[in-house]
Amino acid sequence: MDKLRIMSVFGTRPEAIKMAPLVRELQSREGIESLCCVTAQHRQMLDSVMDVFGLKADCDLNIMTPSQTLSTITSKCLVGMDEVIESKKPDMILVHGDTSTTFAGALSAFYHKVPVGHVEAGLRTYDKYSPYPEEMNRKLVTQIADLFFCPTQNNRDNLAREGVTEGVFVTGNTVIDALKTTVREDYVFSTGALNELDYEKRRIVLVTCHRRENYGEPMRCIMTALRDIAAQNEDVELVYPVHLSPVVHEAANKYLAGAPRVRLIDPLPADEMHNLMARAYLVMTDSGGLQEEAPALGKPVLVLRRETERPEAVEAGTVAMAGVRYDDILRMGNELLRDRAAYERMAHAVNPYGDGHACRRIADAIEWHFGRRTEKPADFAP
Ligand code: UD1
Ligand code: UDP
Repeated sequence: MDKLRIMSVFGTRPEAIKMAPLVRELQSREGIESLCCVTAQHRQMLDSVMDVFGLKADCDLNIMTPSQTLSTITSKCLVGMDEVIESKKPDMILVHGDTSTTFAGALSAFYHKVPVGHVEAGLRTYDKYSPYPEEMNRKLVTQIADLFFCPTQNNRDNLAREGVTEGVFVTGNTVIDALKTTVREDYVFSTGALNELDYEKRRIVLVTCHRRENYGEPMRCIMTALRDIAAQNEDVELVYPVHLSPVVHEAANKYLAGAPRVRLIDPLPADEMHNLMARAYLVMTDSGGLQEEAPALGKPVLVLRRETERPEAVEAGTVAMAGVRYDDILRMGNELLRDRAAYERMAHAVNPYGDGHACRRIADAIEWHFGRRTEKPADFAP
């Protein structure tokens, strides 16, 4: 029997981190030929992930330009994918999550009548413009996809409410699989700035902020609140690996550079980031991925957004919504840093997003879909 040719398409840092363990799993299957097509919507941040997980791209569209627009990302991906799909003729294309690469990859597969598997399917905020453009990207991919790999039961319920019930699997999130390979108790940092931190004397507040809907006034409020939290808590050190987006860079330099106990650093390789998170006291972020990783590591998270598509850890009590207003962020940040009981209520490890076996379930589901396996994989249940 011919091998199934499964092509994973991704382009940004979070997609790469979450697809890496799946690509590895697919590579390990005898009946599968795994191909990796990167759009390189992110260049340096993608390459860093490829290095950490030892991945090599079979095709590289190399589309990134500084300050790229949503239209240029999408159109360049579509044009580039034409040639890739025509030459490689995959049996299925896998896309991940909700980026512009995700949407364009799925659309291109549809144009070529190649079935699509959507990894991290069924997340929703029901607000078209928040997160922007991700909520629309993932809804559009739902219309195109044939297989849906939902991290949680809640994600499956979201799809069911939209009438999508066929080809749906609850697998857990592959990010937990990734985390299991990167976090180690005896890990030694290779980034100089992380070795300079005094983890005994200072509580580390790990910060990231990059979302498009936070550009402008929300980012000003978030960053000034972060600056003041660092100023008002002398045993705290705020560590912020700044995303390479020029908009984010400009804001971070304007509001945070030179502020006391604030360390702005370059984006970290994924293994460095995960191990820093494991040693941090608190995480403040507008990232999607960090909302899944930090709870697994027992770290409280304050979300710097108005909404979340990841309510599971909020319900479990380890993630709280701080919003994008200066007063709320300052108050909630200070409370967690000063009220030990409030902190302890949030600081416990929960794993609503996975058990580290999501990739095995996804690969099994693909083989089952193509009639190469008799047993349908059982759903993940926390
Ligand atoms: C993208 C995704 C977002 C995801 C985020 C993860 C879209 C529309 N947005 O947003 O869902 O949360 O990635 O980080 O798909 N840049 C570099 N080098 C890099 C990466 C980025 O220089 O390695 C700069 C470039 O100037 C680029 C800009 O950052 O134009 C923005 O990148 P882009 O992918 O358009 O948007 P993100 O905000 O990163
Ligand atoms: N991350 C990283 N280095 C950094 C910042 C984040 O490796 O300097 C990782 C983080 O641990 C998570 C992923 O990148 O696995 C999240 O990516 P990002 O916040 O860029 O995107 P989002 O998840 O919001 O789409």
